[in-house]
Amino acid sequence: MLTTIEHDLSQLFGQAFADNDLSFDFGATVRCTRPELGDFQCNGAMAAAKQGAGNPFVAAEKVVASLADNDIIKNIEVVRPGFINIFVNEEYLANKLTTFSKDKTFGSAEDLSSTKVMIDFGGPNVAKSMHVGHLRTAIIGDSLQRIFRFKGYEVVSDAHLGDWGTQMGMLIEGLKKRQPDLLYFDENFEGEYPKESPVTIQDLETIYPEESGLCKTDEEAAEKARQATLELQNGRPGYRALWKHFVEVSIATLKRDYGELGVTFDLWKGESDADPFIPLVLKELEEKNISVKDQGALIVPITDEEGEKVMPPLILRKSDGAVMYGTTDIATLYERIHEDKADIVLYVVDGRQQQHFKQVFATADLMGMDKVCTYEHTYFGTVNGKDGKPFKTRSGGVMKLHDLIQMAKDEARKKLAESNFGVDFDEAEKEEIAHKVAISTLKFADLRNFRIKDYIFDLEKFSEFEGKTGPYLLMQVARIKSILRKAKEIGAEPGELLETSDNERALTFKLLEFNSALNKTVEKRAPHFLCEHLYNLAQEFSSFYQKQHILKEADSAKRASLLKLSSICLNQLEVGLELLGIETLERM
Ligand code: ARG
Repeated sequence: MLTTIEHDLSQLFGQAFADNDLSFDFGATVRCTRPELGDFQCNGAMAAAKQGAGNPFVAAEKVVASLADNDIIKNIEVVRPGFINIFVNEEYLANKLTTFSKDKTFGSAEDLSSTKVMIDFGGPNVAKSMHVGHLRTAIIGDSLQRIFRFKGYEVVSDAHLGDWGTQMGMLIEGLKKRQPDLLYFDENFEGEYPKESPVTIQDLETIYPEESGLCKTDEEAAEKARQATLELQNGRPGYRALWKHFVEVSIATLKRDYGELGVTFDLWKGESDADPFIPLVLKELEEKNISVKDQGALIVPITDEEGEKVMPPLILRKSDGAVMYGTTDIATLYERIHEDKADIVLYVVDGRQQQHFKQVFATADLMGMDKVCTYEHTYFGTVNGKDGKPFKTRSGGVMKLHDLIQMAKDEARKKLAESNFGVDFDEAEKEEIAHKVAISTLKFADLRNFRIKDYIFDLEKFSEFEGKTGPYLLMQVARIKSILRKAKEIGAEPGELLETSDNERALTFKLLEFNSALNKTVEKRAPHFLCEHLYNLAQEFSSFYQKQHILKEADSAKRASLLKLSSICLNQLEVGLELLGIETLERM
């Protein structure tokens, strides 16, 4: 990992404090909030004074006097009561940036390949179309898998399909009513079941809502669905074969929607894959006296240290014997730890499932899983409509993800036309632009807020080419590309970075902040830190470009250096956006 300027300075000052018999830690330096006073500042002398080091001003002067020879500092000043303000050397800065820019990850990758991170996100349910509730998990989860990989972790993502609950029994019963003669329902059948699915996704999408509606009012139908679910879980061959078709047909449609979003998974496993591990987990829970029988059901009471019940129990088996959402989650975690050897498991799942994960994790802790693995509910808030309630269609129905993407595309086309972008491009390119702008709109609007916050879905605002939006960033990228193209036309190419002038200073510092933005993103599992950095970087480029007319620069070495700075900025924006799952455009 390449070091940041803050790090280099903190080492230098730390040593100087230590040479004065003060703690090395006082040497910590940070960016100066007022650039006219310095690039960086060290406030350690004040902290040292509080711990009895005497007058902070005197201490700061002593520290400065004992600084080792170095090539970092150009100017240094001690101001009352004891601030140390530092300006860094131009040559050091240019060298630092050159080294940073040569590294594919801007010096942020570490050797973490021995740490395996499993990211559970997406979580779509078989036979139900994805809706707006599946948007955030897809966007945040995908961004996190990209970021953790980039940082150097071994990452495995899993869609963890909802394919084992009562909705499966409802589908089976629903189909039985419509086509009772299918082989799958014949209990005496012993041959091979057909390879061809008896249903399409449209069939499933019609059957599911009808059956689920029915089961809400009709106790007999509900009982039948529960029974069918249980038989499926217990391995009835016809049901298993049918269920396989349901899953395969659903996956094909899910892949289409995720494909549009540019979201991929390493594993397309589901709740059902935990099935072989359920007996093992139940046995261990029983042997360790963690599970108890309660009115025919099998549960795990969730208590605090005093044994007080703090929330409802985790239900492992209902009285009819069927396993639940929590059971499959415990068994999946068991599989991830024992089979996959995961060190960290992140569950990028809606914050409204917090209680569920508390129950699951409390049970896992009781089993001692916390000794070998870290598991976290990396939750997120709700997407609300302008009325502050969960986002719905105009008619009040559930907003399908596919329709939402189309809406974003329509808005993108409208905004592009209004701004006169790409009017003379051919249709295929226009379509590509509308698609990428739409996806950037949805993704950036989602990722720019700290994930645990709710946000209001305001497509018009998100699609603006001004402000903290995806389209703004895509436009800035296209703009830098256009500058570099124009330069090429007049024979100017990026060259060696020269000592940075005042106009380039702020942009250079901003570029070098990538590392800390990325580290915070990883640490908090929160891509909004990266969003914030990229937005600020794009703005910093704008003000640099306003002050510095690159193409008019007469000195060719200077011009080559300015172009190099621009291309580093472009590269960082593109790399950063890719980490958010946002594809950029050549022009617009
Ligand atoms: N299928 C679930 C839902 O739609 C989400 C699954 C999340 N992941 C998990 N391991 N529980 O609510």
